[in-house]
Amino acid sequence: MLSVSSAGTTSRQSRFPSDSAAGAGIKEAESRSRQRQQEAEVTPDQDLPQSHSTKNMKSARRGEAGDAGSDLSEQIKAATKENHIRAENTQLMLSYQKGHITTTQYKVLLCSLYEVYKALEEELDSNASHPAVAPIYFPQELARLDSLQRDLEHFFGPDWSGKVIVPAATHRYTQRLREIGKENPELLVAHAYTRYLGDLSGGQVLGKLTQKSLGLRDREGISFFSFPGVSSPNRFKQLYRSRMNSIELTERQRAAVLEEAVSAFEYNIQVFDDLQKMLSVTTETQRDASGFPSSPIMQFTAGVCVALVTVGTGIYFL
Ligand code: HEM
Repeated sequence: MLSVSSAGTTSRQSRFPSDSAAGAGIKEAESRSRQRQQEAEVTPDQDLPQSHSTKNMKSARRGEAGDAGSDLSEQIKAATKENHIRAENTQLMLSYQKGHITTTQYKVLLCSLYEVYKALEEELDSNASHPAVAPIYFPQELARLDSLQRDLEHFFGPDWSGKVIVPAATHRYTQRLREIGKENPELLVAHAYTRYLGDLSGGQVLGKLTQKSLGLRDREGISFFSFPGVSSPNRFKQLYRSRMNSIELTERQRAAVLEEAVSAFEYNIQVFDDLQKMLSVTTETQRDASGFPSSPIMQFTAGVCVALVTVGTGIYFL
């Protein structure tokens, strides 16, 4: 069963912005001085303006991914450009961009995000001193598990943990995270990049769209999108990229990280697609079946269970 306090929370230390011990496992002076140079180049606050539309957001990212240089941060962005466009164009993300996200869609998304971040953050915690993880280990600023727990509690109540249901795609994604955490921790950077930089980019606007679409008061139920430890997402992303660029990788490892980042986007796309399939069936089920339990949570759970069986994706309770 699930333990509500996230693993490693108490041992988490802030590494931003001036952590001289950052990258404790990185031995070389060369890479440190390059890193410092890049961190010094971090520009002032350039947060997304309130009026930033999702249309502009899309073109902004496309325009930026030009020729990749030798930096990992540039290469990873270029390598995943097409996958990012595909992720943006999944039905679930399109619903978001049209402002049509429903409470049910958001609830199933939260369940899957919870499982994904649980695996990701536990593996990052376990490998915190690994030379390829230490530079990008920012639990204080980035960790999402506690906020996801708060959001799940908001929607499902105090016994939320027994109601977390995810499709097979989510299970495959978390299995991969566990596997690389044990066998190839240097690949974790690909997954951390994909999720956290995404959350600090388009995710910031998705948070506002969720609040508006669902008519939520304050930040209730949407703490997932808030990063209280990050005052400027843009500046933080620049720092993060410079830390990524400081990681020493062999050519083979670098190629594997780029490949893993493409897979990370694909895992996300598959999760979104499975959730959407599951929801289409749930809607049908709830429309057709008259013998369903009357409480909304039971209806939700029962509907999703039937949907998972029907679409053949699998079902995983915590
Ligand atoms: C509605 C869907 C989405 C929209 C509109 C969107 C939009 C954007 C935009 C505008 C940026 C560039 C921000 C900047 O450079 O400051 C960005 C960056 C990014 N997005 Fe998305 N995004 C979406 C979905 C996703 C998804 C599903 C993922 C991955 C799971 C993702 C991962 C990323 C990553 C990793 C970056 C950082 C790129 C880099 O600078 O290297 N995005 N996104």
